[in-house]
Amino acid sequence: MCGIVGYNGKNSVTDQLLDSLELLEYRGYDSAGLATLNGTTGKVKLRKCAGRVRDLRRICQSDKKISTCGIGHTRWATHGGVSDLNAHPHRNGDVILVHNGIIENYEELKDHFMLHKELKSQTDTEVVAAVLNRLYKGDPHEALRKAVQYLRGTFALVVLFADQPDTIYAIRNVSPIVAAYNDNGTMLASDVAALGATAEKYMVVPEYVITELHKNEIKLFDLEGKPVEPEFITIDWDTTRDGKGNYPFYMEKEIMEQPDALKATMEQRIVDGKIDLSSDGVPDEILKSCERVCVVACGTAMHAGLVAKALVQSKLGMHMAVEYASEFMYEDPVIDEKTLVLAISQSGETIDTLEALKYARAKGAKSIAVINVKGSSIARESDYVMYTVAGPEIAVASTKAYTTQLIALFLLVGRMAKVRGIFDDAAEKEFLGHLVSAPEKMQQVLDQKHDIHKIARGMLDAKDAFMIGRGLDYSILLEGALKLKEISYIHTEAYASGELKHGTIALITENTPVVATVTQSRLKDKELSNIREVQSRGASVILLVKEDFDLADAEYADVFMLPAMADEFMVFPASAALQLLAYYVSMDKGLDVDKPRNLAKVVTVE
Ligand code: F6R
Repeated sequence: MCGIVGYNGKNSVTDQLLDSLELLEYRGYDSAGLATLNGTTGKVKLRKCAGRVRDLRRICQSDKKISTCGIGHTRWATHGGVSDLNAHPHRNGDVILVHNGIIENYEELKDHFMLHKELKSQTDTEVVAAVLNRLYKGDPHEALRKAVQYLRGTFALVVLFADQPDTIYAIRNVSPIVAAYNDNGTMLASDVAALGATAEKYMVVPEYVITELHKNEIKLFDLEGKPVEPEFITIDWDTTRDGKGNYPFYMEKEIMEQPDALKATMEQRIVDGKIDLSSDGVPDEILKSCERVCVVACGTAMHAGLVAKALVQSKLGMHMAVEYASEFMYEDPVIDEKTLVLAISQSGETIDTLEALKYARAKGAKSIAVINVKGSSIARESDYVMYTVAGPEIAVASTKAYTTQLIALFLLVGRMAKVRGIFDDAAEKEFLGHLVSAPEKMQQVLDQKHDIHKIARGMLDAKDAFMIGRGLDYSILLEGALKLKEISYIHTEAYASGELKHGTIALITENTPVVATVTQSRLKDKELSNIREVQSRGASVILLVKEDFDLADAEYADVFMLPAMADEFMVFPASAALQLLAYYVSMDKGLDVDKPRNLAKVVTVE
């Protein structure tokens, strides 16, 4: 979704902004733009276009590039189509601004300030620029303070005032802004990824605080004009973005990084052979006293929650609800102070997850967030945070974030079992024995990626595909199907195989690819008989099966043997196989694997 950058320093701002916008490309966008403000001449230059950052770079090629202060934006269209005119920045009079979020009352504001005649685009953002310009009488603070009182919705606003050279102003509600500085100047952005090598430390700009970016310092003020002390967070991953290495796409690199990411996520949490969450500050008391567990998350993160649900119910004998965060509060969920809410998110910025978490906390629930990006909004909103150690995930399709979320959740459930007296030392040891072997089992699958590539070739012409399984296999396949559909554009449905006969089997025709996972001993026979039902209707079945299962003499279009683990842990090797399958189908179809159409990596609008 929309990405924002601002730079004020010694270097040419155009180059700096273009480089940073490239670092934000992974969020998903359809247009790009920038505005520079020359401190000596006071001249503002605005460049924007529908298309890629490389198109913007081309437009800027012949510019003199002498300014050293400016703002940039990648837009993911919400209000108004994809066009040069709707791209940000927007200018009205002395005000030039970029925006991430949605202004819900922008139509009302048009009427209130009688803006209809002067607006050129269809965006809510241009309305904010116009409102701000109406309120601007030479004092940026006064204008911003008054403007935000009119705005309803979420926003991160980054503003240049044409007569205020060498200062960038910003203010936000919900939508994030981070800021950092080094010897070359100051920077802000919608996420840490865009700060690149600039930042060893960064701050998350607090809500409703006016931020001033000067050449060598960042100043914060509350709405009454009082200075606010910035709080810096140290970045503990490599922000230089070492590229794709020898891989054609980030997705493949990230799939291959999983064994290391899993180990890193486990490392600090296993001390002397026991699960220890003290480095996360998660108190045993809340794990012991909660009576219900509820996951709020979206997409892949929600699928991680489904796997955890199976574990919570089987190991702890506790009820657990897993909810789409976007639906959560409309279902009048039963939440109280005995509920433990788990908010799972790679980015930590998914607005629906953030809002669901806030809702649950307002009802008295305790919360633990499982997050990849340090200091992100959901991490800050939650009582406790377990950070996954996946490192930056750039491909839109989530892979290593998902499996590291699983590791964090398995550790959390293991600790719950211990403090609730369900695991004794021996049971904990056995549980951990399985978990620590997950990276190696995944590695065994990754080592056979060429075999999965061959299987993928059989799916290239498919328009529809199905994935079938029961129990944990079904949860695993929900994620497998999401991966395949989002990057290959093959319409793929994961189906609980017992449910097929109640309608969906009508869609199975000659040669429809059906991917089946069979990894659960108690479900194996039923799953195999469901597979035979679809084969009888002509389906072409790709079977991913635990290696020690006996398949009798049945025939399949393709079979891939998954390294054996205890049933609950089979999600690790099976997920690696499904990720690779989706990846190769997308790559062989010649698609942009890392940036599938219409999708955004960070979903900051409801
Ligand atoms: C799919 C995918 C999405 C995200 C979802 C939540 O591959 O990546 O479904 O899982 O948008 O994002 P986070 O985890 O950032 O909250």
